[in-house]
Amino acid sequence: MQTFIKNLPKAELHLHIEGTFEPELLFEIAHRNNIPLKYPTVDALKEAYSFDCLQDFLDIYYQGADALLTEQDFYDLTYSYLTKCAEQNVRHTEIMFDPQTHTDRGVQFSTVIHGIYRAVEAAKENLNVSALLIMSYLRHLSEESAFRTLEHSIPYKHMITAVGLDSSEKGNPPSKFQRVFKASIEEGFIPVAHAGEEGGPDYIWEALDVLHIKRIDHGNNCLQDEKLVQEIIKRDIALTVCPLSNTALQVVKDLKDHSLKKMMNLGIQTTINSDDPAYFGGQVNQNYIDTQKALNLTKADIYQLAKNSFKYSFLPEPDKAIHIAELDAYYLANK
Ligand code: HPA
Ligand code: ZN
Repeated sequence: MQTFIKNLPKAELHLHIEGTFEPELLFEIAHRNNIPLKYPTVDALKEAYSFDCLQDFLDIYYQGADALLTEQDFYDLTYSYLTKCAEQNVRHTEIMFDPQTHTDRGVQFSTVIHGIYRAVEAAKENLNVSALLIMSYLRHLSEESAFRTLEHSIPYKHMITAVGLDSSEKGNPPSKFQRVFKASIEEGFIPVAHAGEEGGPDYIWEALDVLHIKRIDHGNNCLQDEKLVQEIIKRDIALTVCPLSNTALQVVKDLKDHSLKKMMNLGIQTTINSDDPAYFGGQVNQNYIDTQKALNLTKADIYQLAKNSFKYSFLPEPDKAIHIAELDAYYLANK
């Protein structure tokens, strides 16, 4: 089963580039930028990676991101993640980045996007991994700040496919960003949002009806509302589920209690993703492997999850078909 998962062609649809910042690279980049770190060693930093909730994690995650200053830093961070994609047979990835985390520290939007995008182009050429970008607004900041970010992004529109909404969920409902999402859609961006990770079903309803999102990031708490489940199925909106993130942030107590299989049985379209792999103890393949074990997933389940990862990506339809054909051939030969 492990070999089956490792060699399986797949896509990753929920991934924060700042959350791929491995402690070793973080130390290297902080050192070259002369940025002092709160933790004296890589091990001391790793020990701090124990979280009670989303906010606990975000506090450390934003500290780590402070080490990123130059275009080369963003390039190195992104290329390092894309190398791991190639190693895991991730053929395509949709990368979220948080511009405000950087522009609020005085780093230019252009520095961030050029570094990330240059790595995306290099990976396409050298690693046979495709990637597209999701510019995510930080929901703990104001809608006005999100509007400034949208303005910054306009000259780089051709490099960005979608907009997202992340950071502290509770107290920051999707409706707070109604106008900036409307404006983002008018600029041609596809809308997605984190919803129902710590927030309730009402936040997922808002993400659907007020922001008009095309994919739900996490979405765990949809199960509390039967009508919402039926609506998600009817609208054919996929959930980007992140099992190891959910246990690390205590959204789910134990992987055995995870509702992924229940979601699948109900007819909700789900995918498996790593969210912030440097912080949550596993890349995307580890998420598949641990979840398969905990929930007794069959090869048919794993195939369905990988198929969904292509089907619900934002790739053009012909590209999806090529990936799914490769996946089908793999499944047929290995089931
Ligand atoms: N939730 C909200 N914001 C985030 C996350 C998450 O899981 N990861 C990075 N930013
Ligand atoms: Zn996330």
